[in-house]
Amino acid sequence: MQRSTRLIGLSLGADICWPGAYEQIIRKLNLELTLGDEVIDFAVERVKVEPFSLQQPCRYDMVLDRLTHWFHTSREWIKKSVIMDSLYVLNNPWAIQSMEKHTTYCAMMKLGLPVPETWMLPPKTGPEHEDSNQMMQQYGKLFDLNTVGEAVGYPNFIKPYDGGGWRGVSRVKSGGDLKAAYDASAQSVMHVQESIEGYDLFVRTVGIGPQVEVMRYDPTAPLHARYVVDFFFTNGPEWKYLVDQMLTINGFFGWDFNSCESLRRDGVFHPIDFANACPDFQVTSLHFHWPALVKNMIRWSLFCAATKRKVSPNLSWEPYFEVARRDLPFRERLAGYADITRERMQVDAFREFCDTHLSHVDEVALEFFGSPACKALVHAKVSALYPAHEIEKFTEHFWGLIQFWCKTEADRMSRSTG
Ligand SMILES: Nc1ncnc2c1ncn2[C@@H]1O[C@H](COP(=O)(O)OP(=O)(O)O)[C@@H](O)[C@H]1O
Ligand SMILES: [Mg+2]
Repeated sequence: MQRSTRLIGLSLGADICWPGAYEQIIRKLNLELTLGDEVIDFAVERVKVEPFSLQQPCRYDMVLDRLTHWFHTSREWIKKSVIMDSLYVLNNPWAIQSMEKHTTYCAMMKLGLPVPETWMLPPKTGPEHEDSNQMMQQYGKLFDLNTVGEAVGYPNFIKPYDGGGWRGVSRVKSGGDLKAAYDASAQSVMHVQESIEGYDLFVRTVGIGPQVEVMRYDPTAPLHARYVVDFFFTNGPEWKYLVDQMLTINGFFGWDFNSCESLRRDGVFHPIDFANACPDFQVTSLHFHWPALVKNMIRWSLFCAATKRKVSPNLSWEPYFEVARRDLPFRERLAGYADITRERMQVDAFREFCDTHLSHVDEVALEFFGSPACKALVHAKVSALYPAHEIEKFTEHFWGLIQFWCKTEADRMSRSTG
C-alpha cells in the first residue's frame, strides 16, 4: 500500500474562529483512511501570500478559499493552480469572478424561481473612462427614474447589482426617495427591485457541497442575533423545497459553499440574495449554527481532498435548461435541477465516504465544541470585533449558545444510537 498525505490549504482573510476549529477537529480525528490502494492521512496549512512563478507547482490537494472575491493575487494563484495542478478549490474562482448577484437573478429567473421583479439602471455618474462622456452623450437615453420605480412598485429596494454586506442597500417608499438613493449611488450600477412586503418567514440556507442547513433569519435584529435559534419554523415539504433551491443554485454556478436568502409570502419563497460565494462563517454571526456548519465543511473538504475531486472549470448549464423546458409543475422541475446537482456533487459517494471513514466526526466535534480550546477561539474572535467592555459579555453569550447546541447535539446522538 502506498502512503500519502493530502494537504489542505486555508486561504484566509480575517477569519479567526472557524479555521482554528477546523484545524483542531481534523487533528483530533486522527485519520488514516484506506482508499483504493492508498493509505491517506491529512495535513492542514494556512496559505501564505507571496510572489510565485506561473510554473511553480502547487503543493495543495485542495484549498478552502475566503479571499478570491476581493484579493486578486490569491485568486490568480488559485486559477493557475487549478489549470496547472488540478487543485480542487472551494469555490470555483471563475464562477465567483463572473457571476455577481445580477447574473444569478437572471439565471434563476430562467429556471423559473420567483425572483422579485428587478430592473437595472445605468450608473448616475459614468465610469472614469476617456470615452465615457462621449458614449453617454451619444447613446445614454434620458429616462424618468420614477417610471422605473412605478413599474417595479413602491416600496422597493435600490441596491448594487453586485452587492454584498448590505453595502448601498436602501428601501425606498417614493419617487423622491428613489431619486435621492440613485443620486447617492454615483458610479455604482444599481438594481431597483420589488420589495417582498408582508413576508411571514425569512430563511437563510447555507450549502456546503450537497449538505444544506436551513436557518431562520431576522434581518431587523442586530448583527449577532440575525441568525435565529429556532427549530420548527418550516414543514417537511418546505424544508425540502429550500434544500432543492440551494442545490439548484450551487450546482448551476459550480459553487460548493454559498448562502441564499428567501422570503416567504403567501406560501411562496422568493429568493433575493444568493450570490454569496464567501458566506459569513464567523461564530459571532452563526453562534448556535456554527458547529454544524464547521462539521459540514470538515466532511465535504475531507471527501474532496481524499478522493481528489476535480474542479469543472467550465459550467455546464444545458442539463438545467433541458429540465426548465419540460412541461412540469415548478416543484417537479426544481427537484429535477437539484437532482442534477446531487449527481454533480457525488452525493452517494459522499454519504458512503462519511459512513465508512468519518463516523466519529460527531463525537469528536461534540467534545471539541464543549472544550476550553473552542472557548478560546470564540474569545479571540469576539476580541477582534467588539469594544473592550463588551468582550466578556459577548464571549459568554456566543459560548452559551454553542453549549446549547452541544446539548441538542448530544440529545440527537443519543436518540440516533438509542
Ligand atoms: N426585494 C427585497 N424584499 C425584501 N427585503 C429585501 C429585498 N432586497 C433586500 N432586502 C433586505 O435588504 C437586505 C440586504 O439586501 P441583499 O440583497 O441581501 O444585499 P447584500 O448582498 O448586501 O446582503 C436583505 O437581507 C433583506 O433584509
Ligand atoms: Mg444579503
